[in-house]
Amino acid sequence: MFTQYRLYRLLVATGVMILVVVIGLAISSIQVRANQYQQAANPTDLVAQGQQIFRFDTFGDEAFWGDQLRLHQAIEGSNFTGGVGPGLSPANALSLGLKVDVEALPQSLQTALQAGQVDLNDPANTLALIKLNSVVGVTGFFNTDGSLKSVGIQCALCHSTVDNSFAAGIGRRLDGWANRDLDIGAIINLAPNLDPFATVLGVPVDTVKTVLTSWGPGKFDAELILDGQNHPTLIPPAFGLAGVNMHTWTGFGSIPYWNAFVAVLEMHGQGNFFDPRLNDAARFPVATANRFFDVRSPGPDLVTPKLAALHAYQLSLVAPDPPAGSFNPSAAAAGQIIFNGKGTCASCHQPPLFTEPGWNMHSPAEIGIDAIQANRSPEMAYRTAPLKGLWTHTKGGFYHDGRFATLLDVVNHYDTTFTLGLTSTEKANLVEYLMSLGGSSTGLPSIPVFLPIITR
Ligand code: HEC
Ligand code: HEC
Repeated sequence: MFTQYRLYRLLVATGVMILVVVIGLAISSIQVRANQYQQAANPTDLVAQGQQIFRFDTFGDEAFWGDQLRLHQAIEGSNFTGGVGPGLSPANALSLGLKVDVEALPQSLQTALQAGQVDLNDPANTLALIKLNSVVGVTGFFNTDGSLKSVGIQCALCHSTVDNSFAAGIGRRLDGWANRDLDIGAIINLAPNLDPFATVLGVPVDTVKTVLTSWGPGKFDAELILDGQNHPTLIPPAFGLAGVNMHTWTGFGSIPYWNAFVAVLEMHGQGNFFDPRLNDAARFPVATANRFFDVRSPGPDLVTPKLAALHAYQLSLVAPDPPAGSFNPSAAAAGQIIFNGKGTCASCHQPPLFTEPGWNMHSPAEIGIDAIQANRSPEMAYRTAPLKGLWTHTKGGFYHDGRFATLLDVVNHYDTTFTLGLTSTEKANLVEYLMSLGGSSTGLPSIPVFLPIITR
């Protein structure tokens, strides 16, 4: 009996131990799997990957800008094998609004630049800068003899600038800032072969050239390749967008939507894109004729796998705060009261997002402007612009097409449209408040007030 009982206890104890070990192993394997999952989706990793993509990923678009348009041949010029024309000197590149990342330049080159020993009129030096990966948003692919084989572009071309800490156009990267100096039309116009654009648009090359010349600095027409019309918009910032629902001036969709759109249709990266709303021959004849509503990459999709990281990176880009002294704090505080009260601004630009939580879209009539640009978007409306960091993009004006040269012009427009009856002091204070908006602006008054509900 006694031994049997001991044996029984021993068996039970062993059984329990085995069970504990098995359960323990099971739990730890679940934990390992959970950790692996967390690691894969670790937000810090995603942001770091996204930064790399935003700054350096061409999505394979060199097949378009280099191989097809042969833009690289115009950049290097006829002094290089295969090059054409005078080439793009660093001085010319800077005057077209291209920016140089000083942190990518070796100290010896920085010293030489400072001493004026680098010939800024020699296209060979543009190639050297491209080779160092210092030309923001541009990647060169080189032959062994030092000439360019191809060239590709990145998000950073239009949505980054530099802080000019070294010289005008040369400094540390400022990701997410709209490059309002960039004359993208003039840069594309350098390309020896614009036939691909002419074919897609069904117009002569000369017409393409005229359109590209008409844009000027800080502007680009993302809808040209949908409807064949020419109404360029300002490049908006890609910061301060976390929490904002619809994106682009006319609310085409979310950030990942628009990133896929741009990477595939505008940058001509190699990837897939789908939007059946664009399959509408009356509104989007070019998109329909070219099947831009359903693009399937012939090769591996170099865009879709990057959208998550790219999204995370853009959400991480907080709007920069204005430098001290760039606005009058007491006037701004008075302006805030107008913004949230008499001006009725906060009824649409709701702090702290400065756009509506939810469907942040308005008809052209609601904001008192024409429908031209709105009608080029599937939603036929304008998106309430999130206002944080306005101080970084005063060049080129305000509203989608820069129709208002100054913030005071914007305020005057609202004053008339909404018959607000603002005094000139109230208007000036409102402008100071707009200039004060940065990433840390909550926009909420220090004394809680109820935001007005406006019915128009
Ligand atoms: C050739 C210049 C150019 C390039 C390159 C470019 N963009 Fe843009 N981006 C624009 C313009 C212009 C708009 C406004 C389009 C509109 O509203 O019709 C825009 C709009 C946006 C918006 C919407 C911002 C807002 O206020 O809602 C985001 C986000 C954005 N781009 C991110 C990107 C990313 C990410 C890439 C790279 C995949 C990229 N862009 C490449 C010019 C560019
Ligand atoms: C009915 C909603 C609504 C109200 C009210 C409103 N806005 Fe706007 N706001 C918009 C929309 C929509 C846009 C985008 C216009 C465009 O894209 O052309 C915009 C754009 C702007 C811009 C330009 C942003 C840029 O990046 O160019 C400023 C500045 C601005 N609003 C300030 C104000 C001020 C100040 C008030 C109050 C006097 C105000 N808004 C009231 C909807 C509104």
